[in-house]
Amino acid sequence: MTIQLPAAAMVVLLGPSGTGKSTFAARHFLPTEVLSSDAMRAMVADDPNDQDATDAAFELLHTALGFRLARGRLTVVDATNVEAWARAGLLAIARRHGVAAVAVVFDLPLDVCLERNAARSDRVLPSRAIRRQHALMATSPPALGKEGFESVWRLADAGSVSAAAVERFGR
Ligand code: UTP
Ligand code: MG
Repeated sequence: MTIQLPAAAMVVLLGPSGTGKSTFAARHFLPTEVLSSDAMRAMVADDPNDQDATDAAFELLHTALGFRLARGRLTVVDATNVEAWARAGLLAIARRHGVAAVAVVFDLPLDVCLERNAARSDRVLPSRAIRRQHALMATSPPALGKEGFESVWRLADAGSVSAAAVERFGR
């Protein structure tokens, strides 16, 4: 699959922890194009896993997103984004700047998400957290268009995630 992105877009990665969002972002985008909730937590707390830093992290992320979209810079939001209210905050910023919103859904099977999570060296979440994120992710694709995403790209297995290419069009 070749994911087609407008040159100035907000690209929202959506999927449970461990589905490869940050790996995908690092492979296809400049480091400066990616705003990750983990990096923002680290910026304020010196720890990407410090959940107490979440509110500050997202405030920073939203601020940086707005400044980038105002300049027409393509920006990738690397967070789980499985909750509609979290996406609504991002979509409002894109709308304010007249920028297209694109979703890339990391719709991997639950067993793969659980295995990946358990095998991680950097962070292992309780499996109930992965189950919850997976259930939210699995029910979101039909709603994404109505929420305001212009296009939705669904990666349904690990092979599709690693084989996906990204192309940009327009200026
Ligand atoms: P990531 O750290 O890329 O996942 O990969 P993520 O979606 O961004 O996770 P959160 O939301 O920040 O928690 C998670 C693990 O899966 C492996 C990586 O090496 C990492 O340990 N991985 C990633 C693979 O095994 N294959 C892949 O194609 C991508
Ligand atoms: Mg990540």
